Amino acid sequence: MISMKKFLIALCGVLLVHPLLAADLTGHWLYSAQLPNGQTRETSLWLKTDGDSLSGYLSNNQGDQAITQGKIAGNSISFEIVRDYFGEERKTEYTATVNGDELVLRAGPNGREMTLKRVSTEVPPPPRPAPEKISLPPAADVAYNGLAKTPPMGWNSWNKFRGEVSDKLVREIADAMATNGMKTAGYVYVNIDDTWEGTRDEAGNIRTNEKFPDMKALAEYVHSKGLKLGIYSSPGPKTCAGYEGSFKHEEQDAKTYAAWGIDYLKYDWCSATQVYDYHSMPAVYAKMGEALLHSGRSIVFSLCQYGVFKGPTWGERVGGNLWRTTGDISDSWKSMSHIGFDLQADLFPYAGPGHWNDPDMLEVGNGGMTTTEYRTHMSLWSLLAAPLLAGNDLRNVSPEIMEILTNKEVLAIDQDRLGKQARRVSKDGDLEVWARPLSGGAYAVGLFNRGDSEAKVTVHWSDIGLSKKARVRDLWAHADRGDVSDQFAADVPSHGVVLVKLQP
Ligand code: GLA
Repeated sequence: MISMKKFLIALCGVLLVHPLLAADLTGHWLYSAQLPNGQTRETSLWLKTDGDSLSGYLSNNQGDQAITQGKIAGNSISFEIVRDYFGEERKTEYTATVNGDELVLRAGPNGREMTLKRVSTEVPPPPRPAPEKISLPPAADVAYNGLAKTPPMGWNSWNKFRGEVSDKLVREIADAMATNGMKTAGYVYVNIDDTWEGTRDEAGNIRTNEKFPDMKALAEYVHSKGLKLGIYSSPGPKTCAGYEGSFKHEEQDAKTYAAWGIDYLKYDWCSATQVYDYHSMPAVYAKMGEALLHSGRSIVFSLCQYGVFKGPTWGERVGGNLWRTTGDISDSWKSMSHIGFDLQADLFPYAGPGHWNDPDMLEVGNGGMTTTEYRTHMSLWSLLAAPLLAGNDLRNVSPEIMEILTNKEVLAIDQDRLGKQARRVSKDGDLEVWARPLSGGAYAVGLFNRGDSEAKVTVHWSDIGLSKKARVRDLWAHADRGDVSDQFAADVPSHGVVLVKLQP
């Protein structure tokens, strides 16, 4: 005889997995996070169940986005959202696991998990219509601010610390940089990324949140170490992490930054999509470019609009000293090599003194790549004349990683005053050669191996327009390789690089 308990367990099992008896998930599921500025950040799923199919929408600070292909199988659900990504359709597949009134949501295969709670069983109300977007007339060119004659070097909080950045951390990082060789190597900007923002006062002035009790005092501290302080905002109403953006407060915010003693602004598109038609993007950036120029302080202007709408072609005109060329980097070979090799090859015409392509901040030292891969990351970024913003915990750096970040011969390539970004001069499967001309008639050449086993990589003088004999210097080995004619070959480890300077 089967016991009553076993029978009930079996019945629950059948109810959970039988598609025809799919659970009724109709209702409002809410994720709500309290921000340190007292505001909340919310994501809602409004769901309607019909047998084993699911409809409704996802609602967050990007508006209400319809879900399609919604299915329920046991306690798992899946659906898709097709979004307009700057004029292109982008599909994200979502999966979730439901456990009673709790739903754990994942965006994409590697997305972070978010736990939503059912707060009502109401049938979804109609989604909010998308707001009318603002169209700005084309803006006049913004004058050059005279900064960033070579690519900016420093540190940024985001890659390692995300929402954990605080006044205390920034001071500790500044202390570390001033003493551990980073400052001597040329890293000067200490940049606070997203999550410092508080609310606005009655006059509309932006305030910091509780993590940053006194931004002016922090700037003074950082300056006292011989370093500079950077900050972050968005032209939209909200930043990417859901904090207060600069929408309708551009000039006021620029003045506040200047009064605090800020030296660098990263300006991240984020929720600007909700309020501006994206053809207005250059004008939106020009607005802040002008505001910074008239703020009374020299402030480096860093555009973060992920390279969409041919950003690199107009970044300089709107007053940008640098502009991101891609979406966000992560600490993996796949992400770094895709951004560095695949997405930068055509961008060399847009870089030069005062205005740089930004393939995103460094991941060197964050632990997701091997030392060989980090050396490749650093070499490629230096060839690309990329801004070098370390993204690791500089309070605690191994000698190996410090050597990668502060190799003078490599940094001299990045900082070469000619400001010419490297081009890919040859590609043979996984083997790539990148080269850039340097002041004084020399060339920097990276022999890269993206493959899984060691390989010989060769640079032919004809590939880079060299006709004379050249002295070859290996910049990682700090060793001369003799005077060479016509070509130079090296054995390059898997995912590695041999970086050389050729001095005719
Ligand atoms: C975007 C940017 C990142 C970082 C975060 C902060 O994703 O591309 O570099 O600034 O926003 O929210």
